[in-house]
Amino acid sequence: MKAIINFDQGTAGSLQPEVKTAIDDFFRNWEKGETAKWMRIYRQSKEAFAELIGTTLKNVAGIPNVSTAAGLVASALPLGPGSNIVVSGLEFPSNVYPWMALQPRGTRVRIATSRGNFVPISEFEKLMDENTTIVAVSHVIFSTGYRYNLDDLVDLVHRVGAFLFVDAYQSAGAIKINLTEANVDFLCTGSSKWLLGPPGAGFLYVDERVAEKLHPPVPSWLCVSDVFDLSPKYLTELKGAAKFETGTPNLMGYAGVMASIVKIKEYGIENVEKRILSLTQWLIEELVRLGLEVITPREKDQRAGIVVFKTKTEPLKVIHRLREEGIIVWKRGDRGVRFSIHFTNREDEIDYAVKTLRNFSERGLL
Ligand SMILES: Cc1ncc(COP(=O)(O)O)c(C=O)c1O
Repeated sequence: MKAIINFDQGTAGSLQPEVKTAIDDFFRNWEKGETAKWMRIYRQSKEAFAELIGTTLKNVAGIPNVSTAAGLVASALPLGPGSNIVVSGLEFPSNVYPWMALQPRGTRVRIATSRGNFVPISEFEKLMDENTTIVAVSHVIFSTGYRYNLDDLVDLVHRVGAFLFVDAYQSAGAIKINLTEANVDFLCTGSSKWLLGPPGAGFLYVDERVAEKLHPPVPSWLCVSDVFDLSPKYLTELKGAAKFETGTPNLMGYAGVMASIVKIKEYGIENVEKRILSLTQWLIEELVRLGLEVITPREKDQRAGIVVFKTKTEPLKVIHRLREEGIIVWKRGDRGVRFSIHFTNREDEIDYAVKTLRNFSERGLL
């Protein structure tokens, strides 16, 4: 059997040996009755993620996935009569449906129109007014690989006094994010793509001043400062992102994602980003040489680990043929094949993919 090369990191990041070991340790602790360690590891994983995105523990809550993060934020918003929410037209449904769920209560969801591989900032602007409560956008678009400049989004959204919600599932762990510099209100990610962890152990960043104004709908025992003092009096002192903690988390998942975040931090997120951009550049140049339409931007500051090109033939056939050669990719958009490449992918893997694509091209199979 051919070795499998994962160029579909934007669906599920490759399993790292460090993650396997951490989960084995989780079972070992369980067996030995040392379950008190679990909550410590959970806290450490949030600390590690906070550092990765340039913030501190008090601004990060554990949430299982993007849908939950968006749903919790949606339910906590101060929505008045006639308020509206603006969402990019190129979002993954997890960053659309939770906002739409507010519509029966009188909130309108306005979808900004895409042009080519992204939704221009001007399209958001057209839909925003003094009744806009929040604008929801992906940092990196899952279907095209386009990366927004967070400062541009912040400036636009804050001009009308709205909040900015960023779905960073296709960027966090792949490129540097610094939330001390970028004035984002909410940023969330799941755990099993670019963070290289097991599923169901994601994170939600909430700006401290924003958290003060909100009332999340599912306060839990983990919201308070001393989680082991079970007196309800503490409910009055809910603070920071911890307000969004919903109860006992997926502790095994967090043990795993803690190990992969540490791995990313040890390599250095700047080095991870540099490597990803250089490997993807190599692939883009080859695809262009083969005469294929690459819909991901060429500019390094407008993309991350995703590269999408359009096939001239049926994309699913191309994907299946690549799979027969041991190369895992996925279909995105109209006739699009998506490669998503992490820093753990090797040069010889890219070389093999390039040679395989060249061979397919010569045989008219692309
Ligand atoms: C940009 C983006 N957001 C969210 C998701 C998934 O959402 P959830 O974490 O709710 O499963 C995906 C893909 O799985 C995605 O590509």
